[in-house]
Amino acid sequence: MSQIKPVYASFKSIGAYIPEKILSNKDLEKMVDTTDEWILKRTGIKERHIAADDEYTSDMGTKAAELAIERSGIAKEEIDLVLCATVTPDYFNMPSTACIISDKIGIRDVQAFDISAACSGFVYLLSVAKAFIESGMKKNVLIIGAEKFSSIVDYTDRSTCILFGDGAGAAIISATSNKEEGFIDLHASADGSYADFLVTPAPGCINPVSQRVIDEGLNFVQMKGNETFKLAVKTLTKDVKEILIKNSIKSDDIPHFIPHQANYRIIKAVGDALNMREDQIVVTVGKYGNTSAASIPMAINDIWESGRLKNGELMLLDTFGGGLTWASALLPFSGKSIET
Ligand code: ACO
Repeated sequence: MSQIKPVYASFKSIGAYIPEKILSNKDLEKMVDTTDEWILKRTGIKERHIAADDEYTSDMGTKAAELAIERSGIAKEEIDLVLCATVTPDYFNMPSTACIISDKIGIRDVQAFDISAACSGFVYLLSVAKAFIESGMKKNVLIIGAEKFSSIVDYTDRSTCILFGDGAGAAIISATSNKEEGFIDLHASADGSYADFLVTPAPGCINPVSQRVIDEGLNFVQMKGNETFKLAVKTLTKDVKEILIKNSIKSDDIPHFIPHQANYRIIKAVGDALNMREDQIVVTVGKYGNTSAASIPMAINDIWESGRLKNGELMLLDTFGGGLTWASALLPFSGKSIET
């Protein structure tokens, strides 16, 4: 009797796109009642990048995806699934941003769709890619986290406009028969009872586009910052502890802890609770701000491009966002190391 060989999902490559224009804390001082000092002290953010007026989520996602494809060594014709995580899609209903990106790259006649899980979007996509690959349905999945968050930010609201930036990150997840290259574990979850912590009230069927939506600014993101902060620290810490215990791995053995980049104080509190050393924790929030679904892949790209992330090294991803959603993943980087 022939035996079915197990297949594992492996993380083959990373790419990112960071828009050119920088919005600094000093720039924000001229727009709202805030200071560089307050922003830096309360969030760790120095600056964030903002897409050009005619640069859209799909444009940024396409550039990140093209890099990830090139670095994976696989041909775009071999990709059989395209997934995009975003809460700032080109169009709110249809077509999906994944369809638009597929077309811009020249990938046709493959399944493509978006998911909406806010800042947890990229790790949610890893779980979807893993399920498709390990069930044998797909072999090479292109996943993209892309956001033009500036399109839903109210630049008169100092409690949110200082936090967010634009950008995109992408990865190729491929099937492998080598267990050593496969994801070790992944956990994704949600609790809709906290939906009002982070919400963009319009447009949607509750608040279709109307004069009232515009007058009341319902098209902008609203956040219960303080409550979200506390829950983020608690959930991120618990999630990481659980995944490490479940897999008998000590936090000391993790070379790259890559948390969602929302606020340096959240990252520091989680890192301290896990007894992580500074050199284990990847921090990019200072230069990019919170780029939602793009935050984790942009951070992975940063350490890969700097030569810090090498083939076979373990990554621990941990994220938290609107929904509320959260997710963690433990996996090796199974792509090529960059020559430095
Ligand atoms: N400049 C100066 N003062 C400010 C600013 C600002 N930009 N923003 C708020 N303040 C003031 C407030 O008005 C308040 O003043 P008051 O005491 O006179 O009322 C004071 O600062 C404290 O406000 P808090 O909201 O309690 O400040 P906090 O320390 O919580 O920091 C922040 C706010 C940075 C938003 C923080 O709560 C945070 O980072 N929250 C979590 C964000 C997050 O993780 N989001 C999840 C992911 S996002 C996603 O999924 C899309």
